Amino acid sequence: MQLTIDDKQVTAEQGQTLLEVARAHDIPIPTLCYHESLEARGSCRLCLVEIRKPKWPGWKRLVASCVYPAEEGLEVRTATEEIVGIRKTLIDLLLARCPKNPEIVELARAYGIEQTSYAVLDATRQCILCGQCVRVCEDIIGASAIGMYGRGAGKKVGPAYGKAAETCIGCGACAFVCPTRCIQVIDEGLTRRIPRWNVEFELVPCRICGKPVSTRKHIDFVRGRVSAGPEVLETCSDCLRAYYGAKVAAEGHM
Ligand code: SF4
Ligand code: SF4
Ligand code: FES
Repeated sequence: MQLTIDDKQVTAEQGQTLLEVARAHDIPIPTLCYHESLEARGSCRLCLVEIRKPKWPGWKRLVASCVYPAEEGLEVRTATEEIVGIRKTLIDLLLARCPKNPEIVELARAYGIEQTSYAVLDATRQCILCGQCVRVCEDIIGASAIGMYGRGAGKKVGPAYGKAAETCIGCGACAFVCPTRCIQVIDEGLTRRIPRWNVEFELVPCRICGKPVSTRKHIDFVRGRVSAGPEVLETCSDCLRAYYGAKVAAEGHM
């Protein structure tokens, strides 16, 4: 199908969202609560765009581009004065919540905001409560080690009652999807710590090169779900690639 984004004619596949179409054509739209590996929820509203339909003159709507499906003939604008104004207000509020988080500070600067105009309750906060860590842990990993607790200003993300996340396997997927990069995964020797969830793990060294592969708990968790032995699960991706590359090359010369 054909539509326009910022007056540029673009092609979209059935089922693609406006954000996916824009990204496929290098048209930037800011996002915070979106990650390719998770189902979009449209909660941060930063990716708002304006849509118009030529068959309905004068009609327009603001929609979250990460959840709105592409439609034939749609006219999309990604940075009207109204949209930029709304984004600035949202970013100003995020900056009040996390005034020292480098990702939020950088986003604010890109919109010309050096300081928040709202009251800062706690300058040490780094989390915007987007819930992506909780979703990846539950929906993709299946560990359900962390959750959202409390209400209003007291709302928090983490393990129950602030204790150690007992079912955490130390996979690091939560850190991978966190938009503010506030979940640290610290590997030292053969120990991994994730201070935010109060957990520490033994790391398993690669059977070939000795480089840490993952945590013992993560490897055991995967072993219970797939039929693979230690020659695969306890070998790092580099050594696995080298092994299979050499095998394919050898078989190709037979
Ligand atoms: S590191 Fe722990 S909390 Fe994070 S996704 Fe993996 S299991 Fe869940
Ligand atoms: S820790 Fe990161 S991913 Fe989790 S809710 Fe906070 S900002 Fe979102
Ligand atoms: S990226 Fe947050 S609403 Fe779309």
